[in-house]
Amino acid sequence: MEEKISNLREQVSNKMKEIKSYADVENLRVEYLGKKGYVVEILKNLKDVEEAKRKEIGQKANVLRNEIGNMIETKKEELKEKEYMEKINNSEKIDITIPVEERIGSLHPITIVQRELEEIFTGMGFTVEDGNEVETEYNNFEAVNVPKYHPARDMQDTFWLENGELLKTQTSAAQNKIMLKYGAPLKAIFPGRCFRNEALDASHENTFFQMEGMMIDKDVSIANLIYFMKTLLSEIFKKEVEVRLRPGYFPFVEPGFELDIKCPYCDGAGCKVCKNGSWIELCPCGMIHPNVLKMGGINPEEYSGFAFGLGLSRLAMMKYNINDLRALNSCDLRVLKQMNIK
Ligand code: DAH
Repeated sequence: MEEKISNLREQVSNKMKEIKSYADVENLRVEYLGKKGYVVEILKNLKDVEEAKRKEIGQKANVLRNEIGNMIETKKEELKEKEYMEKINNSEKIDITIPVEERIGSLHPITIVQRELEEIFTGMGFTVEDGNEVETEYNNFEAVNVPKYHPARDMQDTFWLENGELLKTQTSAAQNKIMLKYGAPLKAIFPGRCFRNEALDASHENTFFQMEGMMIDKDVSIANLIYFMKTLLSEIFKKEVEVRLRPGYFPFVEPGFELDIKCPYCDGAGCKVCKNGSWIELCPCGMIHPNVLKMGGINPEEYSGFAFGLGLSRLAMMKYNINDLRALNSCDLRVLKQMNIK
């Protein structure tokens, strides 16, 4: 019996050297360690061994069983590694010398302008906030000083949901939440998509983008407002731009302004972009109304601030010379191709 055990050991270690595949290992396992395998047979037949030697032989057979088990495991690992290396070296080789395909697709002009603005504003210490597209009537109107039945609501008819909420008409809708969240001092911009029930034409769309901004601190004045807007617009147009303020009415600011820029394309000489008007109306703004500050939990005796609502879609149109606002939402790829945006 002992001889048989040592023969089996030798047999297995020889066979092991011949093995080339996972299937071979498995066959070998069944042959020796399976239910009817040689080693198991020895253990089963122990009862026939003379009593004096039974224990010793049993132990040796068990040792052999463990040894074969270990050899099989080692072989399996070896084969796994080998197959993996073969895969890498042959079939799944990556050729890093193949030229990369030119990137197809591009960002939407609004995304480009939005990101550019975000970068400029964050450079000036503003945070970028998110607003909802579905808003409460309170946030969209009341909290920005437009109570029910205020005539300013007429200009901002929108799409109402059955639960009384609405698709926001202006990024100003996030002002209140942001003031309540951060308190003063505060410097934030919040870009977003807005919706209005409009009769559509080349400059009116039911869906468009704005970027709102607020700066609140002690002693913020119109001078700060002009400085920030001028810096920002000069960065966007990559040249020093001239700005002017005209009075404008918005219930959430007092005083309120329309900010115009001297046409950066013709420097005021008159061209297609400014429709020969020399100035372009770009950004309504003003000093935040005390009521709005109060509703935002900020004391108007202590703090003041400015707010603006830049028309992102408008800016993108100017920058990329797009003459129909509807093109921006049209999903018509020719728009992007024509602008040659990369
Ligand atoms: N929310 C206004 C609109 O959509 C734009 C606006 C005007 C925003 C003046 C402001 C502001 O923050 O100060 O017509």
